Amino acid sequence: MILVTGGAGFIGSNFVLDWLAQGDEPVVNLDALTYAGNRANLASLQGDARHHFVHGDITDRALVDSLLAKHQPRAIVHFAAESHVDRSIHGPGAFVKTNVEGTFTLLEAARAYWSGLADKAAFRFLHVSTDEVYGTLGAQDAPFAEDHPYEPNSPYSASKAASDHLVRAWHHTYGLPVLTTNCSNNYGPYHFPEKLIPLMIVNALAGKPLPVYGDGRQIRDWLYVRDHCSGIRAVLAGGRLGQTYNIGGWNEMANIDIVHTVCALLDELQPSPEGPYARLITHVTDRPGHDRRYAIDARKIERELGWRPAETFATGIRKTVQWYLQHPDWVQQVQSGAYRDWVAANYSARA
Ligand code: NAD
Ligand code: TYD
Repeated sequence: MILVTGGAGFIGSNFVLDWLAQGDEPVVNLDALTYAGNRANLASLQGDARHHFVHGDITDRALVDSLLAKHQPRAIVHFAAESHVDRSIHGPGAFVKTNVEGTFTLLEAARAYWSGLADKAAFRFLHVSTDEVYGTLGAQDAPFAEDHPYEPNSPYSASKAASDHLVRAWHHTYGLPVLTTNCSNNYGPYHFPEKLIPLMIVNALAGKPLPVYGDGRQIRDWLYVRDHCSGIRAVLAGGRLGQTYNIGGWNEMANIDIVHTVCALLDELQPSPEGPYARLITHVTDRPGHDRRYAIDARKIERELGWRPAETFATGIRKTVQWYLQHPDWVQQVQSGAYRDWVAANYSARA
């Protein structure tokens, strides 16, 4: 049994689906169902006894304590977070609450639970984090390795950096068996359409402008979400305690090139009678404090654990665009909020 937090979000739901496709070890999935959490992502697990969904908050210590006591997980895989940089600029408070206080609450609950375990060495607390904690790179700089200094620039990345530091300290001070992963930008199915790639797909299909911040030459290192999931599984299985592992796709691309790639795929797969989708590209005001370049040096996880991404960007982005074309109902539900009514009608939480 493992406890996953945030398993109704983009990466967490992909992880839970992937985990239960690879084996039969059950999952307790604790998620607060914020705007980003969507039980429709887990619809294929309805009635599956291996998946126990719990609607609740990671800042609720009593709830976390009771879940650990009841289910006795051998590991916690911690995805739950506020994750969108633009939202963190608009309202940073929720980021400090969930990402910092929530991680602190989980660590304290995990420590209390772990200290009572007969087999302490077998327990794992795996903290899922981001490359954004390292700040921004110049064009000629080497990609982020695990020993790169922490230089977070947004409220989001600062809150994730704080959580990474707490996780590190709980290992060094209390001996909690922790692992941390810092991953680059993910893309793939179930990605909430406020992030670059799904927003461009969804807006293009709706004939809406495709807002590119500033000059569009900012660089991100894109990884298909299921490759991130396999990286996390590899670290959970074989990572050295107290270590961090950077996970990335070796795929640096400028935003404007991402947008053109998405437009070209849509032109091929679902052409618009109005003409090429690139006609909708609109340069807008830049994001405040916009990091220029992220890139991950993923050699450590490859060297120590033999992990490499299975998808190229060409294969992953094609799968992603096809998934959005095949799931207009999901997009409509997520955008309208109607999925919450659908969830209420179709599911009930069980602790
Ligand atoms: P997401 O925003 O899609 O999902 C977050 C999930 O956490 C949602 O289901 C939400 O309901 C849940 N949640 C939020 N606050 C909660 C709380 N207080 N208690 C319980 N559940 C809560 O995020 P994502 O993109 O899936 O990211 C998951 C993790 O991976 C995050 O920790 C993020 O920092 C990290 N990460 C994301 C990326 C990326 O490209 N998306 C890259 C690297 C790392
Ligand atoms: P995003 O998906 O928000 O991820 P992050 O900021 O965590 O990297 O954004 C990816 C890049 O795309 C980032 O440089 C900001 C840019 N961007 C746009 O140009 N337009 C948009 O509408 C969005 C959401 C992002």
